[in-house]
Amino acid sequence: MEPNWDELNFDFNATGGENLRYYFRDGAWSDAEYTTSEYIPVHMCAACLNYGLQAFEGLKAFRGVDGRVRLFRPHAHYARMAAGARKLCLPMPSEQMFVDACVDIVRRNLAFLPPYESRAALYVRPVLFGTKPCLTVRGSNEAGFCVFATPVGPYFKEGIHPINAIVNRNQDRSAPLGTGDVKVGGNYASSMLSCEEAHAQGFKAVLYTESIEHRYIEECGAANFIAIRGKRYITPKSPSILPSITNASLRQIAMDKGFTVEERQVDVAELDSFDECGACGTGAIITPLGNVYDPDMGKTIHYGDDVGPVLLDLYHSLQDIQYGRAEDKYGWCIIVE
Ligand SMILES: Cc1ncc(COP(=O)(O)O)c(C=O)c1O
Repeated sequence: MEPNWDELNFDFNATGGENLRYYFRDGAWSDAEYTTSEYIPVHMCAACLNYGLQAFEGLKAFRGVDGRVRLFRPHAHYARMAAGARKLCLPMPSEQMFVDACVDIVRRNLAFLPPYESRAALYVRPVLFGTKPCLTVRGSNEAGFCVFATPVGPYFKEGIHPINAIVNRNQDRSAPLGTGDVKVGGNYASSMLSCEEAHAQGFKAVLYTESIEHRYIEECGAANFIAIRGKRYITPKSPSILPSITNASLRQIAMDKGFTVEERQVDVAELDSFDECGACGTGAIITPLGNVYDPDMGKTIHYGDDVGPVLLDLYHSLQDIQYGRAEDKYGWCIIVE
């Protein structure tokens, strides 16, 4: 049944469409299995359930202004999942297998790919998980690799709108030599309490600080932090930040527009000096920050009730590439025929 595109939110929206699974056993990946089941049978003692041996990705396919379907940067998502698999000692599919699986799942779910006018997209979620039953803590030489797709609505139905965030120094989502730079479930688990507490206090996002001095900004919820000061695009650099593919793309676009890109430590004290701030990621591209509250300093920095001109322009420029309205000069999109 075709979803009601206008009602879609950013969540798992069931379609009954196909997903695919591969299994790694005895040193080799199985052939792809296709199913419409949303469930995966795993052993109760599996490494993914007990020791968190799991990595995932999130990328989007868009129906363009020309009717063609574009999948955004699957090779970059492969590289990030491969880095996660290395850290978690999980078997990793080849780049070809990963990209083909994502393209295949988009093709098989074309009926659920929202029309251009809806500003919605098809979200593709590859998940890699250790299936080896083990009580001893060790890497898993057995794994599952599942790719599914679900249509998601635009983050901002009434146009891009600022949210408020709270600085957090009480819970670390990751450590400098930990797993913050890879997309694994444990990072999200370790940020859950602060996330829920912030929501209960009326904040939409948490601005995390690094775990040594709690002085430098890390991430903004499940997204990278970006700031604009004059002709500078500033974003934190740290070994415990997830390298956002949206951020990398925006940095390139910003450079093309004549901005100087600064990837460096960003002190919380600098928040006062920025013209515009935002969070960036696949989900919303850019979520502008309207207010940032620092509970330890007892002050709120106000950036405005509307999105700033630079972040709005960057947002449109990236969307123009994803929806085929602008030339894809870096070859970021794969056309799915
Ligand atoms: C912790 C975290 N940081 C940053 C991002 C943004 O990454 P990307 O732009 O690749 O979606 C995400 C979302 O994937 C995330 O979960």
